[in-house]
Amino acid sequence: MARSRLVHICTQCGYESMQWHGQCQGCEAWNTLEVEPTAVPRAGGATTPTMAVIRNLPVSRPRALSEIQESNLKRLSTGIGELDRVLGGGLVPGSLVLLGGAPGIGKSTLTNMVLGHLESNGHRTLYVSGEESAEQIRLRAQRLEPGAMQVPVMTETDLQAVLSTIASSSAEVCVIDSVQTIKHAELTNAAGSVTQVREVASAVMSLAKSTGTAVILVGHSTKEGTLAGPRVLEHLVDCVLQFEGQHERPYRELRALKNRFGSTNEAGLFEMRQGGLIEVLDASARFVAEATRAPGSVVLAAMDGARALLVEVQALVASSELDRPRRVVSGIDRNRLALVLAILARHGGVSTGAADVFVNVVGGVRVDEPGVDLALALAIASAARGVPLNGAPRACFGELGLTGELRWVGHPERRLAEATKHGLEQAVAPPGSGKGTVEVGTLREALKVSLPPLH
Ligand code: TYD
Ligand code: MG
Repeated sequence: MARSRLVHICTQCGYESMQWHGQCQGCEAWNTLEVEPTAVPRAGGATTPTMAVIRNLPVSRPRALSEIQESNLKRLSTGIGELDRVLGGGLVPGSLVLLGGAPGIGKSTLTNMVLGHLESNGHRTLYVSGEESAEQIRLRAQRLEPGAMQVPVMTETDLQAVLSTIASSSAEVCVIDSVQTIKHAELTNAAGSVTQVREVASAVMSLAKSTGTAVILVGHSTKEGTLAGPRVLEHLVDCVLQFEGQHERPYRELRALKNRFGSTNEAGLFEMRQGGLIEVLDASARFVAEATRAPGSVVLAAMDGARALLVEVQALVASSELDRPRRVVSGIDRNRLALVLAILARHGGVSTGAADVFVNVVGGVRVDEPGVDLALALAIASAARGVPLNGAPRACFGELGLTGELRWVGHPERRLAEATKHGLEQAVAPPGSGKGTVEVGTLREALKVSLPPLH
């Protein structure tokens, strides 16, 4: 048995410290350090428990790149177009994909669907669950497409048993749901602790590489830090996918945070329905059709990964009874709202100091790019004055500088093309955005062309 020592490990980022600190010195999160025994190899160079598990795997020898067959990189289509695109063209055999997301967001549903599609197309698959019973998995699969019922399922939490089953199953694609429930029997740490999830992930990685099985490892992300978040595994795996969305809303977004086999610029949009997750291919059309065009409503031509997406940004400005008025945001970074409010007050003559401000990106999608600034400013100004935007329906985009200037943002042509495709003319945009836009250099100008004149 290996000796163990006690260390404090951050459950968010994996930072290790001999002493306890209230704030992690690695990622600056509060109260995330937990004491854990850590396995160390015995003096004399014996093995760690993980090494013991994978000792029986075939030994690999270094090979020249030219010796490696190209066919090894043939990708497997998951049968879900949006997922294939985010993966960079499908699953790569032998790769380890980490699928992270909050509990209940739809990770099990998505992975069940993937295996179902693969089974229908004649591929061998395996679904390992440490969370649900086989009956529960069957109940879910019944709601999905018929292929989902053909997937072989194993309910197991012991790492060694999982590894040997995967190795003997000759599955081409395997899902482990979730990494936090699988436990290495020789480690005393609780399942889901940083040490455990690291051991599990690295053992699965070695197995995937040696057998050529593509493994999707499901991981719950939690803010509270009682379970080790997928962030501690990011450096280990080939690809990190993040599944996001709000529980009460149907839209779910899949993003690649890391991808050794493709771009991290892709995002896929899904909708949770009765029969599982449906790809949303006409998101812009839906959001534009739903836009109210009432005071406080603005259409933003945003970039969602490499794609242009039209979304409605709504704002409400109401007088507040609180000493510190509320700033409530959904779908946008709250610091960005604070910045835009300050710029509006200083350079746009729109002061919201004594009012509650609510901002929402309709549909539950998240916009994480600088082009959102102008839409935020126009929505808030329109809400504050209680008047809708001028003239024909149009989109806008642009970043606001601290001196009130409007700054160029990436891919104006894609944003414009998307706006034109959905019947919106003449987007309000920063200088240099090209033909078909109303180019404005400052916030003041943008307000002037977008809102009716003040009396
Ligand atoms: P689940 O995939 O179990 O989430 P996770 O594995 O990320 O924890 O699914 C979560 C929710 O999805 C659950 O509350 C029920 C809902 N759901 C549907 O709305 N339609 C469906 O067809 C399925 C299978 C699930
Ligand atoms: Mg699940």
